[in-house]
Amino acid sequence: MKTVVIGADGQLGSDIVEVFRSGGQETVPLTIAQLDVADASRVQPVLADAAPDVIVNTAAMHHVERCEADPARAFAVNALGARNLALAANALGARLVHVSTDYVFDGAKQAPYLESDCPLPLNVYGNSKLAGELFVRSLAEKHCVIRVSGLYGRSPCLEKGGLNFVDLMLKLSRERQEVRVVDDEVLTPTATRDVASQLLHLLRQGAGNGLYHCTAEGSCSWYEFAAEIFRLSRSPILLSRAAPGEFPAKVPRPKYSVLENANLKRLGLNIMPPWPEALAGYLQEKHGIGAQ
Ligand SMILES: NC(=O)c1ccc[n+]([C@@H]2O[C@H](COP(=O)([O-])OP(=O)(O)OC[C@H]3O[C@@H](n4cnc5c(N)ncnc54)[C@H](OP(=O)(O)O)[C@@H]3O)[C@@H](O)[C@H]2O)c1
Repeated sequence: MKTVVIGADGQLGSDIVEVFRSGGQETVPLTIAQLDVADASRVQPVLADAAPDVIVNTAAMHHVERCEADPARAFAVNALGARNLALAANALGARLVHVSTDYVFDGAKQAPYLESDCPLPLNVYGNSKLAGELFVRSLAEKHCVIRVSGLYGRSPCLEKGGLNFVDLMLKLSRERQEVRVVDDEVLTPTATRDVASQLLHLLRQGAGNGLYHCTAEGSCSWYEFAAEIFRLSRSPILLSRAAPGEFPAKVPRPKYSVLENANLKRLGLNIMPPWPEALAGYLQEKHGIGAQ
């Protein structure tokens, strides 16, 4: 199973490359310098050179405020980029694995979202990602769309200033005596390493076309996530809940975006760990926290 990973130096892409390679899979990483998915004329020739069986697309414009300010580029990358890849995958007979987001939902359900729930994005980012999903699901003959949420990984998330939430909290705990975090946005923080392992498992089991929610198990608010980070790292920092409206969002976002891995579970393929366990593993591996 020769796999091309697009967005290969991103948070998720770099872990997919590493996990697939350590699992013995032939893996070709492509960065934006080698392939811009929005460049329709380049997508097919570049992928044809690699001759993959599987194409994994982690590339996205996902900075929510930047998407709102530049919807044309957001749709060019997140929607038309996915379309370009779907057409190229068909020409090459490859399976397209496309990564999407919890932000396709509006949060009103206030209970974990199933793959069968109707999306209703609140912002340009969510709309452009939903359009990308629909291109993939309607055009790509062999496809999997996986929705992830609240990613953190060992590689920096360049689009969001280089620090994921966990590393930002650790940095603040060294610099400040107190930190205030919102308690009214509920999600499932998910380690990119776990998504990569789940994806390899899914592909090895020969999963067919489908939409798969793929997040850690359980849920928390950003405040609760920060509390667990400080507990595990034994930080003495004072953590408080931000007052309502203290950090007003410039762009509407779902207040609740927990996903249920219903399709993975139905197939007996869900190997995603509970989020606190994943966090402890990440802190130990990347920061040596909790290591004996
Ligand atoms: N981060 C999250 O919390 C989160 C939550 C839900 C869903 N997701 C989805 O998960 C996926 C991976 O996110 P991530 O956190 O790994 O993002 P990331 O760290 O920013 O990685 C994205 C990668 O895609 C590349 N890229 C951007 N535009 C591209 C283009 N037009 N053509 C080719 N490559 C391009 C980026 O390169 P440059 O950095 O050089 O631009 C980067 O290497 C995305 O589809 C995102 O929508 C993320």
